[in-house]
Amino acid sequence: MNWKEIYQKKKVRIDYVLNLVHSNSTIVTGMAASEPQIFLSKLHEVPPSLQDINVFTCLNMKDYPFFSTKESEGRFINNSWFYNGSNRKVVLQGLKTMTYVPNNLHQAATNLIQSRKIDMYVGIASPMDKNGYLTLSVGITYEKDILEKTDLVVLEVNNNAPRTHGDTQVHISEVDYIVETDYPMPEISIVEPTEIERNIGERIADLIEDGSTIQIGIGGIPNAVAQFLKNKKDLGVHTEMMTETMVDLFEAGAINNKKKTLWPGKFVCTFVLGTQRLYDFCNDNPGILMLRGNYVNDPYIISQNDQMVSINTALMLDITGNVCSEAIGARHFSGTGGQLDTHRGAVKSKNGKGIIALRSTAKGGTISTIVPMLPQGAPVTIPRQELDYVVTEHGVAHLRGKTVRERTLELIGVASPDFRNDLKNEAQKIGII
Ligand code: COA
Repeated sequence: MNWKEIYQKKKVRIDYVLNLVHSNSTIVTGMAASEPQIFLSKLHEVPPSLQDINVFTCLNMKDYPFFSTKESEGRFINNSWFYNGSNRKVVLQGLKTMTYVPNNLHQAATNLIQSRKIDMYVGIASPMDKNGYLTLSVGITYEKDILEKTDLVVLEVNNNAPRTHGDTQVHISEVDYIVETDYPMPEISIVEPTEIERNIGERIADLIEDGSTIQIGIGGIPNAVAQFLKNKKDLGVHTEMMTETMVDLFEAGAINNKKKTLWPGKFVCTFVLGTQRLYDFCNDNPGILMLRGNYVNDPYIISQNDQMVSINTALMLDITGNVCSEAIGARHFSGTGGQLDTHRGAVKSKNGKGIIALRSTAKGGTISTIVPMLPQGAPVTIPRQELDYVVTEHGVAHLRGKTVRERTLELIGVASPDFRNDLKNEAQKIGII
C-alpha cells in the first residue's frame, strides 16, 4: 500500500470539515494540548441554521467563540470535563453555553460512550511515518477510546506535535480526514512558588521516601514539592499528567523509574502539558509510556506501584475530612479530573500515601480553607473515609484510621492559628469534640 497516497486523498481544508457538522450532533475533541485549535477556532462559523451542537472538551487552551458569545446560545453547548478561567467567566456572565461533566478521569471515555452516540472525533496528531502510523501525540486520556467508537475521525496533523510512545499510534486507514497545520504547541508557564507554597512543598518532600513512585500535578504547590525532591533517589513516575517538573527531577538524577514495581524504567502518563522544553523531552522518547486514561488512572492499576505517593491540591475541606477541590460552594471551579483516582490508588498501594495539600487560608488570609462544614452546594471530591494526609503551611495531619474526634483535632492543628478557636467552638457546637 502507498500510505502517502492514501494520506493525500484524505487531506482537506478546515471548511470541508465544518460542512460535516450538523444539528443535534455530538462532537468530542482532544483535550488540553491535544485540542484541535483550528477546528475549535472556526466552529462558530457553521451556518446559523444549525442548532444544538454538543461539543465535549476538557481544559480548553483558548477562549473559543463557539462557547463565549451570546450568539452561541442554543447553537452550541461546551460540555467540559474540566473548566479553565474562560469557562468560569462565561458561566459568571450567565451565558447558557457551558456545562460540566462530573466524572473520574479514568471513566471519562467509557461513561461517555455508554451514555450517547458520538458523531465525530476531532483531535491532533503528529505526522505520519513510512508505515502509515500517526500518533495522537500528547494525549490519550479518552481520545483513542472515543476515536475507536466514532463514525467520523478528523485529525489536525501538526508538524510541531511530538511523536510519542506507548498506545498513541493511529493508522491512516482509521482516519477519515486530515487537516494539516503547524501552529505552536500550547504552553503553560511555570508558576514560581510563593513562600507559603515552599513551606508546604518542603513538608511534603519529607513524606516522600527514596524509591517512591509519584503523581504530581501543576501549580505552585506541586512546583514547590519538586524543588525539594532534587536530592531524592530512585523516584519513579506514574501520573495522569506529565509535567516539566518531572524533566527537572529526571535531569537532577532524582527520577530514574528503576525501582517501580509496575512498568520499571518507564515514565507512565496519559497526557502531557507544559512548555516546549517538555514537548521536546517527550518527542520520540521511548522512556515515556503514554497509555489510555482508563488504564493509567484506574486506582487498581495505580495501586500496583508500591510506595505510590499522590500529591493533589484542594480548595477547602471540612473538619472531619471531606475535601472539595472543584468548586467554591455551588459555583463550579475546575473538575474532579484524576484527583480521586490517583488518591485512591496511592492509598491502596503498599506503603502508599495520598496527600492533599492546601494553603490554610484564602483571599489574603481572610478565610480559612479548613471549615466546620462545606458550604451549601459544594461537591465532595474526596470523601472523608478515604482521606490520608493533609498538609498545610502549619503542619501535617495524618487521618487514616482516625476517629471523627481525632481527625477534627488534627485538622484544627494544621489550620491557621487565626481560625483555630472558631473551628474548635464550631466543632463543639456540632457535638463532634
Ligand atoms: N474559599 C473561597 N475561595 C477560595 C478558597 C476557599 N476555600 N480557596 C481558594 N479560593 C480561591 C482563591 O482565592 C483563588 O481565587 P482567584 O482566582 O480570585 O485568585 C481561586 O479560588 C483559586 O485558588 P488557588 O488556591 O490559587 O487554586 P489553584 O490554581 O492552586 O488550583 C485547585 C487548586 C484545587 C482548584 C486545582 O488543583 C484543581 O482543580 N484540582 C482538582 C483536580 C485535580 O487535582 N486533578 C488531579 C491533578 S492533575
